[in-house]
Amino acid sequence: MDTLTAMTARRTAKHFDSSFKLDDQQIDSLMAAALCAPTSYNIQHGRIVRITDKGARAALRVAAFDQAQLTEASEVWVICGDTQAWRKNPERYWRTADQETRNILVGMLTEFYKDKPVLQRDEAIRSGSFMAQNIMVAATSLGLNTGPMIGFDADQVAEVINLPEDHVIALILVIGKAVKEPWARGGQLPPDEVVLNDSF
Ligand SMILES: Cc1cc2nc3c(=O)[nH]c(=O)nc-3n(C[C@H](O)[C@H](O)[C@H](O)COP(=O)(O)O)c2cc1C
Repeated sequence: MDTLTAMTARRTAKHFDSSFKLDDQQIDSLMAAALCAPTSYNIQHGRIVRITDKGARAALRVAAFDQAQLTEASEVWVICGDTQAWRKNPERYWRTADQETRNILVGMLTEFYKDKPVLQRDEAIRSGSFMAQNIMVAATSLGLNTGPMIGFDADQVAEVINLPEDHVIALILVIGKAVKEPWARGGQLPPDEVVLNDSF
C-alpha cells in the first residue's frame, strides 16, 4: 500500500479481535516507523510504554472509562514524551555529526528550550504525536488497525505506568485487527475552512 493510500485509509478502530496477535516482525516494523518520526533538533522526546501485563491492561480499561480496546487489542502502547529530553545529555542526539556541528546544535537547542516550560511540554507532546502518527500509518500499510485514545484519566494511567514527574502522556495507541467496520466518517471540514492563504 502506498503512503497516501495508507494515510487516507486509516480509520479509528474501537473493537478488536482479541485472539489476533501481532508477530515480532510487525512489531519491529512499527517500532522502526516510530523511531524515524521527526523531532525538533532530533531530540527524540517520545517514549513508548508497551503494556503486556493483563492486570495493567485491565487497570487502563478502568482508567479509560471501560473502553474495550484496552483489553481486546493485540497491542496497547502508551505514547509518552520526556519534557526534559532537551537537557539530558543532548550530545547523543548528534553523536554522528562532527564535533563543531555538534557543539553548535547543542548550544542552540539548550538556549531554545531553557526556562520555557510550556514549550518543553508542547515539544514532548508534539514528538509523541508524530511518533503515534508514523505508527498508525505504518500499521495501516501492514493491514492492521489502530486507535488513538485520549479518553482516560491521565492521573490513573500515570500511576499504572509509573510515569516519571518530568514526562507527559501524549496518548494511548491500540493496534490489532478490527472486528467492526469503523463509524461512518464524521464529516471532514471543507479545505477552504482549514487552509488559509498567508494569514487568518
Ligand atoms: C488525540 C485523539 C484522542 C482520541 N481518543 C479516542 C478515545 O479515547 N476513544 C475512541 O474511541 N476514539 C478516540 N479517538 C478517535 C477519534 O474519535 C477519531 O480519530 C475521529 O473521530 C476521526 O475518525 P478516524 O480516526 O476514523 O478518521 C481519538 C483520536 C485522537 C486523535
